[in-house]
Amino acid sequence: MCGIVGYVGREGDARSFLFDGLKRLEYRGYDSAGIALAYRGTIAIQKSQGKLTVLQESLDLLPSGVPCGIGHTRWATHGRPTDANAHPHTDCQKVIATVHNGIIENFQELREELLANGHHFTSETDSEVIPHLLEAYGGTDDLVNAVRRAEERLRGAYAFLAISSRQPDIIVAVRRSSPLVVGIGEGVNYVASDISAFLTMTRRAQVLENGDLAVITPETVNISNVHGMPMLRPEMTIDWDIRKAERRGYAHFMLKEIMEQPDVWGDCLLGRIRDERVLVEELGLPLPHLGEIRRIHVVAAGTAYHAGLVGKALIERLARVPVDVSVASEFRYQDPVLEPGTVVLAISQSGETADTLASVYLAREQGVPTYAVVNTVGSTLARDSDYVAYTHAGPEIAVASTKAYTTQILVLTLLALALAERNGRARPDLVRALRRVPMLGQETLDGLNNIRAMAAELMRSRDVFYIGRGLDYALAMEGQLKIKEIAYIHAEAYAAGEMKHGTLALIEEGTPVVAVVTERTIARKTLSNILEVKARGAEVFGIIDAQMAHQFPVDHLLPVPVSDPLLAPVLAALPLQLLAYWTAVDRGRDVDQPRNLAKSVTVE
Ligand code: G6P
Repeated sequence: MCGIVGYVGREGDARSFLFDGLKRLEYRGYDSAGIALAYRGTIAIQKSQGKLTVLQESLDLLPSGVPCGIGHTRWATHGRPTDANAHPHTDCQKVIATVHNGIIENFQELREELLANGHHFTSETDSEVIPHLLEAYGGTDDLVNAVRRAEERLRGAYAFLAISSRQPDIIVAVRRSSPLVVGIGEGVNYVASDISAFLTMTRRAQVLENGDLAVITPETVNISNVHGMPMLRPEMTIDWDIRKAERRGYAHFMLKEIMEQPDVWGDCLLGRIRDERVLVEELGLPLPHLGEIRRIHVVAAGTAYHAGLVGKALIERLARVPVDVSVASEFRYQDPVLEPGTVVLAISQSGETADTLASVYLAREQGVPTYAVVNTVGSTLARDSDYVAYTHAGPEIAVASTKAYTTQILVLTLLALALAERNGRARPDLVRALRRVPMLGQETLDGLNNIRAMAAELMRSRDVFYIGRGLDYALAMEGQLKIKEIAYIHAEAYAAGEMKHGTLALIEEGTPVVAVVTERTIARKTLSNILEVKARGAEVFGIIDAQMAHQFPVDHLLPVPVSDPLLAPVLAALPLQLLAYWTAVDRGRDVDQPRNLAKSVTVE
């Protein structure tokens, strides 16, 4: 997956807008980047391997004051990250330039056909077939018609933008599965993979649907299907606070996103609780549907999957509704048994993860209702699910997910409490306690003064083990993912009681073990496991409920002010996130943009 952005205006400087837009899309991929401008009968291109800072060095080689152009930031799928493979790509005559996100599945066949017809390719990418196909279909004279014809030939899940030096006042945009949003300005229009790219310029947006082809000029946006039939797409106003997508003095987006969690949790809970009850309608679920839920099947990827594991424990314990949790890339090929009364609950920050979307479509095919817990407003998942609860975390830019994860857990907690009430198991005390969670979050962050020193201990480790039981095990899984993702340290999470069945053999003098202990009823069991690893020389980092902390003989303590263990996960997530963050900083890692990863995985 990659980020794509376009600008077409009566006047203005596409170059500077595109570069700024790419900065905001860099989370989608960052192994190469490029910009193409269409002006005075030529296409001017600069592109280079590496991050945007590399492209910035050659930005002056592009003309300023040109009002039509497209940009791209890449996460390599087909072809290594090199200058040649960077987008934009052009046709043989260099009249057309395109940027592409996604995969063209039949590119081999198209490439061979185009080569046989004399086209000359300069990259190893699947993407390069697009400009050549447009050229073959007369795109150097009539770009829109050529895109229509090319669309009939291309297979896969993708989005692309095309410009032509002979028609420097239009961008043609196509969406087939990969996201694309048009931003509407005055005498200028924008298009991008994600609204954050143009949010500083306009809050008016039209989200393209699958199969849409948009012809965008400075004054108009004409959306049709590939056959030319007009498609009406409502204009929406985006109310995201753009300051939330900026670093505001923090060294990294990740640190900013960790530290703002108490406020974000307040936003997530706002208006969803009245007195001692959860307002189900504010979770996007009409009451009658809540009554029909007999079983929930969670599908998600990465961190969102870990939030699903926490959700399972909360929903089963509070409401006694059975919950299955599947990794979306497995679920979609598992031929799952979805009985009547089951709801497929998809959790996703971006709302664009290919496997999660495929899982939802599979559920829909089987006639099962789908419910999305999602952060990105207007995302494909939000639009294609029957019911939606937004997490209201605001834009999350760092690749490693933090505030999206904790707000997913909060929404699942609200859902669990609503289902519990439906099942005659209302917990007004817990609803009351939930209101205090943002405040406890701030208290947790304020109490983590010693975390940098602990990270300094961890930074030289080769392996780290995370242990816990119940909810703490689910948290341990997220903790180990964080340190892998950003610090590049090998880490594993184990159900604490399972260590002795094999993994204990790996514990030697000085092996770091992070123990999470917030489950009061089984804390003594975890204590035994801590003693077992300590007896083998482990250095134990304890993330422990402050009320019990004194009973645990750990080497390093991170106390968490827990009110009720069922509300502890979001609080205990904070030290886990910060420990990974500071360890990564100490190891000199690129925290916001870890190697080989991308924030939004829109390919399989
Ligand atoms: C990528 C990101 C993870 C994220 C996962 C699922 O792997 O790097 O941070 O948890 O995708 O993304 P989603 O947008 O569906 O939550």
